[in-house]
Amino acid sequence: MHILLLGSGGREHALAWKIEKSPLCKKLFIAPGNAGTRLCGINVELNVLDFEAVKIFILEQSIDMVVAGPEEPLVRGMGDYLAQEVETADVLFVGPRQKGARLEGSKEFAKEFMNKYQIPTAAYQSFSTQTYDEGVAFLHKLQPPYVLKADGLAAGKGVVIVSSLDEAVSALRNMLHDKAFGKASEKVVIEEFLDGVEVSVFVATDGQSYIMLPEAKDYKRIGEKDTGLNTGGMGAVSPVWFADKDFMNKVETKIVKPTIEGLRKENIPYCGFLFLGLMNVKGEPYVVEYNVRLGDPETEVVVPRLMSDIVELMQHMARGTLKKYLPEITPDFAVTAMLVSGGYPGQYEKGKEIRGLEQISNSRVFFAGAQERNDKIYTSGGRVLAVTSIGNSLQGAISKTMENAGKIEFEKKYFRKDIGQDLLR
Ligand code: AMP
Ligand code: GLY
Repeated sequence: MHILLLGSGGREHALAWKIEKSPLCKKLFIAPGNAGTRLCGINVELNVLDFEAVKIFILEQSIDMVVAGPEEPLVRGMGDYLAQEVETADVLFVGPRQKGARLEGSKEFAKEFMNKYQIPTAAYQSFSTQTYDEGVAFLHKLQPPYVLKADGLAAGKGVVIVSSLDEAVSALRNMLHDKAFGKASEKVVIEEFLDGVEVSVFVATDGQSYIMLPEAKDYKRIGEKDTGLNTGGMGAVSPVWFADKDFMNKVETKIVKPTIEGLRKENIPYCGFLFLGLMNVKGEPYVVEYNVRLGDPETEVVVPRLMSDIVELMQHMARGTLKKYLPEITPDFAVTAMLVSGGYPGQYEKGKEIRGLEQISNSRVFFAGAQERNDKIYTSGGRVLAVTSIGNSLQGAISKTMENAGKIEFEKKYFRKDIGQDLLR
């Protein structure tokens, strides 16, 4: 098969690494890719939001399967476009169509869907500029902390959690009146605060059947012991002991089954990954968010635990034959730490040379914001690379990751040294 993978982050490097190993993969292209994906296939300069350009590339290179890494092409309807064009109608597409992608593309839609199918989530109400006053009145009725969410895609920054009523009211005004997140915050969801521990669960589905992939914990805050600003994710661990059999059974019966069932009832075909951002509140799972793709950096710990051929899995997803398939997962622990540019998630500098990669042993480095120039590798983003290790003990995997993360050098490098520490028992 000729496969085209869309995206350029650590998630895509982990996917490219796994796809390239498949005997089913003859040629892999990554658009636009990064310094890591180019070791697994051919990076192509292609604007993945220019669907016509993507179509032309598919035809030129006889692509058999397209895998969407990030959500944006999905939310904008790339799957629908390729299915409607005669020449690309038969190309396998891993990712939901535009309707299904609304689970991530609109918080209001996701909340309505969950309410309709009785999927546990925080109580909420949705407001627009016209109903701003009602929004303020609603905030007065809630207990702190207050959770406000821009309805649309806001590059992971659309959620505001504040502890005082004043801050909440001013955040609402900012979002609705001052359009703090542009079009994304024309509507705002205000919801109840869920007090618990977060865990991410990935589901692979063809719209009828599903497979639950391993759960992972994402470390979202910049500072150790979960302090400071939210980031795209500073590290991840899989498996996670508190997501035990009992909890995962609840996730399956209360969330996964009714979600797949609900999509079917709404006539929303869904062949792709579904990422459940969950809160474990005293042993009960609640959905914090749906994402219609894999998570980053969770992919960097989940994909290495997948022993089976990922292309085979994706083929079953895209062809609707998942029912007959069961992938093999190793019980081993995977731990990843993200090395980031100093200053991230605020202002940071790029273009710093990355050194020491040749000294890494017993870990795998997945590149995120890193680009190659004249045989050297330079930082090109906030999250630069993910160092993943596997071990039959959590402590073993943590130690390997931390040791190797320490060996890599670039100016103002930062990483959290406490990834996984809270999960040791
Ligand atoms: P989201 O973009 O929806 O994932 O939200 C970003 C982060 O905000 C989540 O990962 C949670 O840590 C936090 N969050 C979102 N909604 C809630 C909620 N209702 N209660 C508590 N924390 C939340
Ligand atoms: N790690 C969270 C995300 O990918 O959205």
